Amino acid sequence: MSAATLDVARIQADFPILKRQVHGKRLVYLDSASSSQKPIQVLDAMDRVYRESYANVHRGVYTIAEETTAAYEAARGKVAKLLGAASAKEIVFTKNITEAINLVAYSWARANLRAGDAIVVTEMEHHANVVPWHILAAERGVELRWIPLTPDYQLDTTKLDDLLDGAKLLAVTAASNVLGTINDLRQLADAAHAAGARVLVDGAQAVPHFPVDVQAWDADFVGFTAHKMLGPSGIGGLWARPELLEEMPPFLGGGEMIREVTKEGFLPNEVPWKFEAGTMPIAEAIGLGAAVDYLSALGLDAVRAHEKSLTKYALDRLTDRFGDRLRIDGPRDIEVRGGTISMVLEGIHAHDVAQVVDEEGVCVRASHHCAKPLMRVLEVPATVRASLYVYNDEADVDALVEALSKAEQFFAI
Ligand SMILES: Cc1ncc(COP(=O)(O)O)c(C=O)c1O
Repeated sequence: MSAATLDVARIQADFPILKRQVHGKRLVYLDSASSSQKPIQVLDAMDRVYRESYANVHRGVYTIAEETTAAYEAARGKVAKLLGAASAKEIVFTKNITEAINLVAYSWARANLRAGDAIVVTEMEHHANVVPWHILAAERGVELRWIPLTPDYQLDTTKLDDLLDGAKLLAVTAASNVLGTINDLRQLADAAHAAGARVLVDGAQAVPHFPVDVQAWDADFVGFTAHKMLGPSGIGGLWARPELLEEMPPFLGGGEMIREVTKEGFLPNEVPWKFEAGTMPIAEAIGLGAAVDYLSALGLDAVRAHEKSLTKYALDRLTDRFGDRLRIDGPRDIEVRGGTISMVLEGIHAHDVAQVVDEEGVCVRASHHCAKPLMRVLEVPATVRASLYVYNDEADVDALVEALSKAEQFFAI
């Protein structure tokens, strides 16, 4: 079924880690929503830069420094193309999306929000898109407002205009890391802009999984993180409208983010380097560039088609096997969801399930998934989350179903 959209066997061969065993069983990796595995193309690109041309970027005039600088900047261009940005200068590298959102919170938001202003977030946000706003709210007297969920785990926009009334920012995820829900960003952005609010999109669970076009979304800020999209940890970034990046004050001060420094003060560098203080994660940025090449070669449309068919297969198999004993917290309609499947197995704690499942070589996450406000809405402390990606196939889903059955039998005794 999924072979029609991606050649999964060929993809699996690119991921050395998938050849290993755990507890004598084939490794079945179903935790890509937390962090994806890395193909040999990414590992090679990072290895190559350290072996053949490593030097600091934007500092040396010698050949290998220029080679590394060119590769680092080429990675920025690849990301810009992937996101539909008009220019590579609209991409700021950060260490992850958490830092990208904090960059907006510390720079743009502190320059623009004051007591009495409101920020609208949603009940399905990751802590990375909640806590920076809590910190700001406590410091500035800013109000946080929450878009609730429908019974089908989508955003309930019936009171959206009221929530946006007087708001300066809508901070919303493109896709939930717990429910799998994919949000209609254009509708949200249009409503926010009509109310005079800016729109920040958490793209952590979107950019790896389906085509993203920041201009079609009409967003103002979009964050992403490389380690969830086949790239290394330690690198991520922010896309923002160029005029916003121009007017935003620097976030971190130090080397390379300046044009001039005197005893009296400093002049900031141009965008985007104004926001890239100190030595950046150089090999990681180049690894991200290789990950973007890999994903682009697969085609994000094909990635989405593969995940849709595999998600349907997984939802059907789980429902057939467990029926009402397994609660799936997320939409059933695969048109509005991705391959992140959160489950509560009747009467068994998520951590107990994950431990038994691990004995079968199956990696799932048992956690609040850094979404504690959402856990309260779902009225559970944690869920078991299986998340699908380009290297997963029906055999992986079958292994999950069998492992969950073992957990159910184990705890029934
Ligand atoms: C939706 C979402 N936003 C933000 C993050 C934070 O990503 P990072 O830890 O790479 O900053 C995650 C990671 O789980 C996520 O799923």
